[in-house]
Amino acid sequence: MLFDFAKLAANECYKLLVSTITPRPIAWVVSQDSTGILNAAPFSFFNAFAGDPPVVGIGIGARAPGQPKDTRANIRETKEFVVNLVSEENAEAMNISAIEFPLGVNELAEAGLTTHSSLHIKPPRIAESPVSMECMLMQIVDLGEDNGLVLGRVLAMHVRDDAVMDREKCLIDTPNLKLIGRMHGTGWYARTSDLFQMPRIRLGDWKMHPE
Ligand SMILES: Cc1cc2nc3c(=O)[nH]c(=O)nc-3n(C[C@H](O)[C@H](O)[C@H](O)COP(=O)(O)O)c2cc1C
Repeated sequence: MLFDFAKLAANECYKLLVSTITPRPIAWVVSQDSTGILNAAPFSFFNAFAGDPPVVGIGIGARAPGQPKDTRANIRETKEFVVNLVSEENAEAMNISAIEFPLGVNELAEAGLTTHSSLHIKPPRIAESPVSMECMLMQIVDLGEDNGLVLGRVLAMHVRDDAVMDREKCLIDTPNLKLIGRMHGTGWYARTSDLFQMPRIRLGDWKMHPE
């Protein structure tokens, strides 16, 4: 069936996007305002966009029209943030940190999480997360009135020791991270344990279709 976005309401477009573009990785972002108040929240409009320079992007909306979510306001203000990734073990704490607490409530404390300080930036990383990226704001691309794409340069990455297979070669035991992804609808998630392997095909190995 055809869904013409010109004829749909904004929430219907949103529903079609999030129930088809799946699974989405989750950026569990720690940021701070200029007075140092800590904030943590998950965002699944998230991915990596370049390796050189290393860039990640996060789509962050608004609490109400004209009122950006605290994470976007903080990043605009202080330019620094940590993207933590979410393992199966972190799922419940991540969900608690998504509660729209009033400004000033420390979501990390509410979720029973602890932090370690970062090397290059002020916001700390979530100690319980298996992967954390220290990021510096590159640019915020305004997307209409109430959404913004935050592009951040990754300055450093922390990976849980037992998931590093070879530090010199930067080889990570990805399945061991047990990361989860956001799926469709109300509260569906995916594990990343059902894998299959398909090597890339080199042009020289490809038998062209007969005309
Ligand atoms: C798994 C998950 C993914 C989410 N992804 C997004 C997202 O991509 N963009 C967004 O604006 N909000 C997203 N949210 C909602 C925010 O986490 C929520 O509004 C949060 O309270 C924002 O916190 P803040 O105002 O402290 O930044 C998501 C929530 C969950 C549970």
